[in-house]
Amino acid sequence: MTQTPQLSVEGASIVDRGAAVQIRWSNGETARFHGFWLRDNAQDTRTRDPGNGQRLLSMSDLDTGARVTQVKRDGGTLLFELSDNGPSLRFDSDWLLARRYDRGGTNRTGWVDDRVRLWGSDTPHAVSKATFASLAQDKRALLSWLKAFRANGVALSANGPQRKGAVEEMVSWFGFVKETNYGRTFDVRSVAEPTNLAFSKQGLLPHTDNPYRDPQPTLQLLYCIENSADGGDSIVVDGFQVATALRDEDPGAFLLLTRYCARFEYFGSQNVYLNSRVPLIELTADGELRAVRMNNRSAAATLDVPFDVMTEYYRAYAKFESMLSESRFAQTFSLAPGDCFMVDNTRVLHSRTGFASGGSRWLEGCYADRDGLYSKLAVLEKEVA
Ligand code: FE2
Repeated sequence: MTQTPQLSVEGASIVDRGAAVQIRWSNGETARFHGFWLRDNAQDTRTRDPGNGQRLLSMSDLDTGARVTQVKRDGGTLLFELSDNGPSLRFDSDWLLARRYDRGGTNRTGWVDDRVRLWGSDTPHAVSKATFASLAQDKRALLSWLKAFRANGVALSANGPQRKGAVEEMVSWFGFVKETNYGRTFDVRSVAEPTNLAFSKQGLLPHTDNPYRDPQPTLQLLYCIENSADGGDSIVVDGFQVATALRDEDPGAFLLLTRYCARFEYFGSQNVYLNSRVPLIELTADGELRAVRMNNRSAAATLDVPFDVMTEYYRAYAKFESMLSESRFAQTFSLAPGDCFMVDNTRVLHSRTGFASGGSRWLEGCYADRDGLYSKLAVLEKEVA
């Protein structure tokens, strides 16, 4: 196992009349840390349970007026004394470097995490691919596939068994099936000359699944069991890339779609009535892109936009929908039996082209959630280095 060499600390000094310390690392990074923040994040047994590592403090235990009275360096460790009569604090300097919050400025509205890689039609390796067997058996292969998924919001597994149930096996590698009123899995069958309109040969608009659920499933897998159709290629679109382009090309439209809620609904059989009130582009409180939603088939009446804004809102809605279908954003691939693609259903939209003639297509779909996947990824990152 290879370890990243630890950066040395070139300087550590008390600043702001003891309210904080400033640390300078050998790579040129500097950052300040408040005394109470250091106390809050201490790893000693008065702060953290020695068995499970859980935090023992409450916020009201902290003295935000506490002063740092002493700073010492001991190799890669930094030692602090505070005026609050608590125990001395010891921190690994790399631990602090990775958690510096003194970055100045605020990020632009619609920012994304450093680990997210936005992509368009020309981006190489936007849909990373690995074989089903390697993912099932090889932790390193699974780790690199999950990392690529975190970056791109989409990944493909190939050459798996051509049978129902294989998609549930895939989910078991990193999480749990999210069961819905459609069951643990559901069939998506399409034939080129349908006797039933439900088995359409038409192409679909790029969409996220089930926006009428709240919370909505954050992962979707579509596993190909049969595909003899001419056409029916799969298309994926990075909704974060399109939202970013909308922000840059028409900031007013972007703002409207983040500020007001759309509504979605589904009237199904089995006495199901699902409905939600959610924005088409969702931001966190500090402006990070959190989710995009689009699904023309389950859009409900818009009720939450002021009368005077409704016309502009509809224009923005239509513009975003139309941009999601632009070829500059789309990655297209065909699914062979045994192939499966997985999307982050809060980010990457999917669709398919229409069928020319002949053949049929049978996919088994399944929902799951990202928390389990990210947990598995974090565990593998520790295990496999
Ligand atoms: Fe879908």
